[in-house]
Amino acid sequence: MNITFRQLSIFEAVARLQSFTRASEELHLTQPAVSMQIKQLEQSVGLPLFEQLGKRIYLTEAGQELYRYSRSITDELNELDQVFEEMRGLQRGRLSVSVASTANYFVPRLLATFCQRHQGVTVSIDVTNRKRLLQHLMDNQTDLVVMGQPPVDIDVVAEPFLQNPLVVIAPPGHPLATARHIPLARLQGETFLIREQGSGTRSAMERFFAKYGVTLSTPLELSSNEAIKQGVQAGLGLGLLSLHTLELELALDRVVVLDVEHFPILRHWYIVHREGKRLPAVAEAFRKFVLEEARELLTGLPQVAAAATPAASAPPG
Ligand code: PGA
Repeated sequence: MNITFRQLSIFEAVARLQSFTRASEELHLTQPAVSMQIKQLEQSVGLPLFEQLGKRIYLTEAGQELYRYSRSITDELNELDQVFEEMRGLQRGRLSVSVASTANYFVPRLLATFCQRHQGVTVSIDVTNRKRLLQHLMDNQTDLVVMGQPPVDIDVVAEPFLQNPLVVIAPPGHPLATARHIPLARLQGETFLIREQGSGTRSAMERFFAKYGVTLSTPLELSSNEAIKQGVQAGLGLGLLSLHTLELELALDRVVVLDVEHFPILRHWYIVHREGKRLPAVAEAFRKFVLEEARELLTGLPQVAAAATPAASAPPG
């Protein structure tokens, strides 16, 4: 049997993602290149590794065995990589961080300061929504994750470092724009622009409205913070977003934050890693830097007005 590491890691990605297309995207390869490698692997093994039923692909029995071994080989190789990273230390380390799309409004600022201090460090940052962040943690694909709500079903170390207030926004001319103490129930008649399934902002919003028994009528789903802000400015409806996404729009008076009962929803940003994970020196340095300095470095982000801060905060997350 003549199997290469390259074939194994391609096989691992296809098996994990159950898709040739998604694996080719993740590995930055063309789909024919991925299919060719799998075909050669099957020839070396002498057995089929995948079978296609309808639109889905499944691992054959041989595929399942190979997947089990390829996962442990990949884990061992990642660990070896981390050992070398530690040896290279902070001089030439590589930092891999996955960031919730909403946290991307401030994480680059933290990285800029960190990289200035540690000039040899290379950074790989993946910006995605909560659902994919959880997958990255499960698959041990990243050193650190910045997210708004740590998972409960994966063993992680999650350390809060900054408040993350969620607010309701409207265009400046909206009838509620100047109203004070708007009752929560008043929002029921309004069209809301909400984030896609899998977004942490969306799930915090759903938990919040469920807790207070509010049902939103006909929400419109948009797949990014930017799309929601554009929609609100255009008068499509109200939005519910992290205050940290609104720095520019508030400075330019493009949107206003509504004074709604029980708002803002007070959440936190967490820096998260798998429990028991051996963090490379550079990741450990970034973790400490975030915990010790992020608050100070990010004082320019929009703040919740003291008067708007509710006595009791929202449901966790
Ligand atoms: P997201 O942010 O809505 O961009 O997924 C993560 C979070 O707020 O938990």
